[in-house]
Amino acid sequence: MKNLFSYEGKRVLISGAGSGMGEATARIVQSLGGEVVTLDIKKPPIDDVTFLEVDLRDASAIEAAVTEVVKGGPIDALFNSAGLPGHSFPKVDVMLVNFVGLRHLTETCIPHMKSGSAIASVSSAAGVGFLAMQESLKPLMAISDHAEAKAWVEEKAQDPDFEPYTFSKMCSIFYTLSRGTTLTPETGIRINCISPGPTDTPMMPHFVEQTSQDFMDSFPKPIGRNSTAEEQGWVLAFLNSPAASYVNGENVFTDGGFAGGLWTGSIDVSALIPPAK
Ligand SMILES: NC(=O)c1ccc[n+]([C@@H]2O[C@H](COP(=O)([O-])OP(=O)(O)OC[C@H]3O[C@@H](n4cnc5c(N)ncnc54)[C@H](O)[C@@H]3O)[C@@H](O)[C@H]2O)c1
Repeated sequence: MKNLFSYEGKRVLISGAGSGMGEATARIVQSLGGEVVTLDIKKPPIDDVTFLEVDLRDASAIEAAVTEVVKGGPIDALFNSAGLPGHSFPKVDVMLVNFVGLRHLTETCIPHMKSGSAIASVSSAAGVGFLAMQESLKPLMAISDHAEAKAWVEEKAQDPDFEPYTFSKMCSIFYTLSRGTTLTPETGIRINCISPGPTDTPMMPHFVEQTSQDFMDSFPKPIGRNSTAEEQGWVLAFLNSPAASYVNGENVFTDGGFAGGLWTGSIDVSALIPPAK
């Protein structure tokens, strides 16, 4: 039987393979035979990957990198894993890396991808409320130009109540779900995302700092523990493989049962409100 999980002969582009889930995904895809190119501000600690230093806040750097990557041939799989946590970084940067840059990289790659190729992004369980909030997401969804989107974000960031991490993650889910309905019929390229729960990566200490260790420890996890970067990476690798050929426009909650508990009422929403700092 053909191995549908194989990445043999495939050219794979990963943003954020400098550490965490992106690094884990790069190692997994490599072990499955893929040729990996990574875009990050941080060099990945992995042998035999091509590293392009790219800041995802910078549209022209993204475009130049994709031009460089496709000199070697089309891209078979794109993984968007780069991200910034919330409060410790400027609101505009969080939005630019987690959504505006993610979308710009994706849309810049699409013309260089063939039918049968696939895109998988990392969103977050923090975006679980995206459907209820969709009217607030739609204005940014409607702005495809990077500079205009950046101007919209800069304006939005003036609002002291604007929380960029959650908003950016709701945007990446909504974008994925809606893009699956247009991209795939036009090109044969699939697009999906995952929404991890708490995962032990270099980003975790930032979440602890933003809330507290107690809050992160008691954050509802029906599975009983944080996930590892590898557990997220395997789901990403599956989504961009032919084994997932009928999965499209989907958000997979890789959160150990958190979203299910929230929707069915077995997890109390008040448990999600971090302590005042
Ligand atoms: N760790 C968690 O608990 C958790 C939970 C849900 C979702 N996520 C999401 O998972 C994704 C991966 O994060 P992680 O947990 O592996 O953390 P991480 O910090 O290990 O990885 C993030 C990567 O993004 C890169 N990056 C940051 N800013 C960049 C920029 N301007 N340009 C290019 N690259 C940049 C970093 O250098 C790093 O390699 C992120 O999108 C994050 O929001 C994390």
